[in-house]
Amino acid sequence: MESERDRVPRGISSYPARQTDRVTFLITAGPTREPIDPVRYISNRSSGKMGYAIAEAALDAGYDVILISGPVNLAPPRDAKLISVSTSDEMFEAVHRHAGASDVCVLCAAVADYKPVQVSPVKIKKNADGISIELVPTRDILQSLGRQRAREFLLVGFAAETDHLEANAAKKLREKNCDIIVANDARIAMETDENELLILFRDGERKKISRAPKTFLARELVKIFFKIRNKKFDKNNVMITERT
Ligand code: CTP
Repeated sequence: MESERDRVPRGISSYPARQTDRVTFLITAGPTREPIDPVRYISNRSSGKMGYAIAEAALDAGYDVILISGPVNLAPPRDAKLISVSTSDEMFEAVHRHAGASDVCVLCAAVADYKPVQVSPVKIKKNADGISIELVPTRDILQSLGRQRAREFLLVGFAAETDHLEANAAKKLREKNCDIIVANDARIAMETDENELLILFRDGERKKISRAPKTFLARELVKIFFKIRNKKFDKNNVMITERT
C-alpha cells in the first residue's frame, strides 16, 4: 500500500497532459541538501557529472530534456529546461510535476536518505557534551514513480554501491519496480570524470560497460534507454505487452 511518505503532494497531478510528439527525458542529478540549521546540512559527495552528461547526450540526440538538479558546480546544458532544487522534498515535488509529461525518467541523483526531524531556525551552538540529531528517512522518489502502475514513461534508476554491486542493484530493480537499473561503484563514480557500469534490465538481461569517460557512457546509455522505451511503448504511448 502507498505510504504517506510516497503520496504525490496535494495539487500536483502525476499525469499532466503530454504536449508534444518530441521525446522528453527527465533527468535528476547531483546531491540533495537536508538542512540542520541555517548554516549546516546533510549531503553527500555526488558531483552531478553523470546526470549532466546524460542530459547533454540526450540533447545531442535531439530529445527534449528536463534536468532536475541538486546543488552542483557544473554549467547547465544550454538547451535543457533546468529546475534547480536543494532538498529531497523539493526534488520529489519537481519530479512528480514533470514525470507524466516525460517519456524516459532517469533518476541519477544521489538523494539523501535521511533528513533531520527538526530544522533549527537559529544556528545550533557548540556543546562540549556533544549533540544528537534525530533523522527520519526521506521519501524515495524512484520508488514512488515505480509504484505508479499506469505510468507511460520508461523508469531508470541508478544504484551506487561499494559492495555486492550486482545483488544490491538487482534488489533495487525489483523493490523500486524500475525498467532498468544502472549500477556503479560509488568509489569510482563519485566526483570523477570516469565510471564503469553494470546495466540490469527487467527481463534479466545484463550489460557491462567498462571504465570510460562519463560523456561516452552517457551517449551509450541514451541509445539504450531510447531503444528499450520504444520496445515498451508504441508511438501512441500505449504499453506493448508480449504474448507468451
Ligand atoms: N533514490 C530516490 N530517492 C531517495 C533515495 C534514492 O529517488 N530518497 C533513487 C536514486 O536516485 C537512485 C536509486 O534510488 O536512482 C538508488 O539510490 P541509491 O543511493 O543507490 O540507493 P538507496 O535506495 O538510497 O539505498 P542504499 O543507500 O541503502 O543503497
